[in-house]
Amino acid sequence: MENFSFYAPTYFQFGKDAEYQAGDLVKKFGGTKVLIHYGGGSVIRSGLLDRVKDSLKSAGLDYVELGGVKPNPRSGLVYEGIDLCKKENVDFILAVGGGSTIDSSKAIAAGVVYDGDFWDFYCGKPIEKALPVGTVLTIAAAGSEGSPDSVITKEEGMFKRGASGSAIRPKFSILNPALTQTLPSYQTAAGITDIMAHLYERYLTNSKEVEATDRVIEALMLTMIHEGPRVIADPDNYDARANIMWAGMLAHNNCCGVGRSQDWNSHNIEHELSALYDCAHGAGLAITMPAVFTYCVDHDVMRFAQVAVRVWGCQMDFANPKATALQGITALKNFLSSIGMPVSLKDINAKEEDIPKLVEILCRGNGRNGSISGFVTLNEDDCTNIYKMMF
Ligand code: NZQ
Ligand code: ZN
Repeated sequence: MENFSFYAPTYFQFGKDAEYQAGDLVKKFGGTKVLIHYGGGSVIRSGLLDRVKDSLKSAGLDYVELGGVKPNPRSGLVYEGIDLCKKENVDFILAVGGGSTIDSSKAIAAGVVYDGDFWDFYCGKPIEKALPVGTVLTIAAAGSEGSPDSVITKEEGMFKRGASGSAIRPKFSILNPALTQTLPSYQTAAGITDIMAHLYERYLTNSKEVEATDRVIEALMLTMIHEGPRVIADPDNYDARANIMWAGMLAHNNCCGVGRSQDWNSHNIEHELSALYDCAHGAGLAITMPAVFTYCVDHDVMRFAQVAVRVWGCQMDFANPKATALQGITALKNFLSSIGMPVSLKDINAKEEDIPKLVEILCRGNGRNGSISGFVTLNEDDCTNIYKMMF
């Protein structure tokens, strides 16, 4: 295991009706004037936005609103949010929605207190200062409710890139699993897939002797494999929703990624798909992961065989461990397909002739130098082959 520091001070309020505590929590963390940021309208239709506003009013807090965050959030609305916060002297950002809304909120929070262009943070500049952010989560997926990360797409060039810094880790996150019961099945499944990806991207490590975190990741994968189909079959199953929601947080606040190198090639390869085709991030990952893992299996056959045996219940073939490793990848693919996720790039209307463009943006865009590096370093030819495998 490698040396690490880990400090993840988000306050979680979990359970039924937790959103009624939004006002008290904003106050507890020093907010006086709030920007409520939300997405395309699901929180209006469900009545959640009104409940949150009532809670702020009861706590005597003033607020302004900015809706309209799209899945795969764009820089345009971030600039708008920064201007609004400056004009209204906002000192706290409350995200009400999914990962896209939370990420847009984090970008605004960092941009308001920065003199330059907020996009600098998405070109590698660490975020050291930001307005405090709180969240009311409505989908278990991205893990942004407990992460120090934000992913934004810049319309100019359609670069989808991440920024990071402990300053944007939410001060508090309200997790009421019942709020996720209004999700369309496809979004629930995309969320499950994203959570599985956050676990795999940490499981695929070049660090040795990481049994404790391996076992935590395996437990969370098994939870998802158990609860995923239950919630797809019965969307109102509160307990399955609750387990998925907490697993989604644990999968991505990095408690199970410490002390080990991590992968993130699948995420980087996927981000170009959701940027170009505007597919759900989880749906893109369902297509990406099996291809990337199959392409990289020879790098560490035993690691893939280990997850196949411990998580997918495959029999270890000692004479041919690669066969076991590949069985595990097939089991993952079948699981994702069984919950309704796409398996081919054709399913999201991608075109083979777009591959050079995808590879160019992936490997050269926004200052990259011809490759991406995770569990395995992948150059432009590797990435071209992987995108081809996805058709
Ligand atoms: O916009 P509204 O109307 O709210 O609808 C959303 C959206 O259409 C809908 N939805 C959310 N909660 C709902 C609901 N509909 C009905 N009932 C509810 N309770 O679901 C759709 C997807 O929402 P979105 O916020 O985009 O989902 P998700 O949480 O999957 O976020 C995806 C974004 O997070 C990024 C992804 O790249 C993507 O841009 N990621 C962020 C990470 C981070 N910050 O740490 C890490 C992840 O790996 C990921 O890259
Ligand atoms: Zn993800």
